[in-house]
Amino acid sequence: MSLFPQRVFSGVQPTGNLHLGNYLGAISRFVALQQTHDCIYCVVDLHAITVPQKPSELVANIREVTAAFIACGVDPKSHIIFNQSQVAEHAELAWIFNCVARMGWLNRMTQFKEKAGKDRENASVGLYAYPTLMAADILVYRATHVPVGEDQKQHLELARDIAQKFNNDFSESIATAGYGEAFFPLPEPLIQGPATRVMSLRDGSKKMSKSDPSDNSRINLSDDADTIAQKVRRAKTDPDVLPSETPGLAGRPEADNLVGIYAALAEGSKADVLREFGGANFSSFKGALVDLAVAKLGPIGADMRRLQADPGYIDTVLREGSVRARAIAAQNMKAVKEVIGFIS
Ligand code: TYM
Repeated sequence: MSLFPQRVFSGVQPTGNLHLGNYLGAISRFVALQQTHDCIYCVVDLHAITVPQKPSELVANIREVTAAFIACGVDPKSHIIFNQSQVAEHAELAWIFNCVARMGWLNRMTQFKEKAGKDRENASVGLYAYPTLMAADILVYRATHVPVGEDQKQHLELARDIAQKFNNDFSESIATAGYGEAFFPLPEPLIQGPATRVMSLRDGSKKMSKSDPSDNSRINLSDDADTIAQKVRRAKTDPDVLPSETPGLAGRPEADNLVGIYAALAEGSKADVLREFGGANFSSFKGALVDLAVAKLGPIGADMRRLQADPGYIDTVLREGSVRARAIAAQNMKAVKEVIGFIS
């Protein structure tokens, strides 16, 4: 049992094409956690530049993610929304973590291997060190819980390893400075619900992703009702009817994915969905899914457009959030420096 006060932290990259996977796997969970926790939600712009970004698009994408947080129901007054580059302590702690993490640990990261592809020599150093910055994002607030989709699990394990190694390496100094046995909590991933890994609508073996060249592979939060309907109707399926129980989804990735999406949007379970639709063919199930998706996502898209039309408001939210985030980060960073043996 952790002795640290509970605090939630999570981040989303401003790399465009925010989609249903980001909403169901992460942002909808952010909203729910506000009822029970102090939450800090970050637009991770420093992570975005690990691959090339056009400055004009980056600005727009930072505002898009911020608008999505608010439109989905994150309250920037009761909780904190900000962009990473306005709080320099993230990068500062990341450097220290670069000196704590081991090359062998980073060499195991599957996301780097996927993103760098065959041309690894030409990937940025930032892309390689990405997970140490992610650990710093979380730990600079000494956050205890991190809502994410399934694809971030390995990065969270690395963040725990870094926290643990820091606590061990500096245990004497941590105790002398009055922080007891551990300075950092071991942050827990919260990977919950029926849609922790939403798959591409075109290929049930591939994750729904911002970078898929086919726009039909994903439902974007900015899609209008007609586009949502068209994409759902064109989604790949198999020839069978839906099973009545969840074991019947085994070996049917596309069916499993659509049922998971329906369950998450309806805030129920896959078993609930199959109780209702078992025996139905895909054309009738897809009709119901279109209605549900449009009912849930339509108002979010409309609200995002309204917010994005007022960049001044969005920038103020980010600036005010950054001031509040910085106050926490600066205090923790001061303690880290003391523990390490820096003079400040
Ligand atoms: P990013 O920007 O790729 O994705 C944002 C969140 O959406 C989740 N997600 C999905 N969930 C279900 N199905 C999918 N197809 C899907 N695609 C994406 C991601 O798991 C994530 O929760 N490294 C992170 C950003 C980050 C971060 C952090 C997260 C930086 N620092 C600190 C937590 C804590 C990323 O690239 O997410």
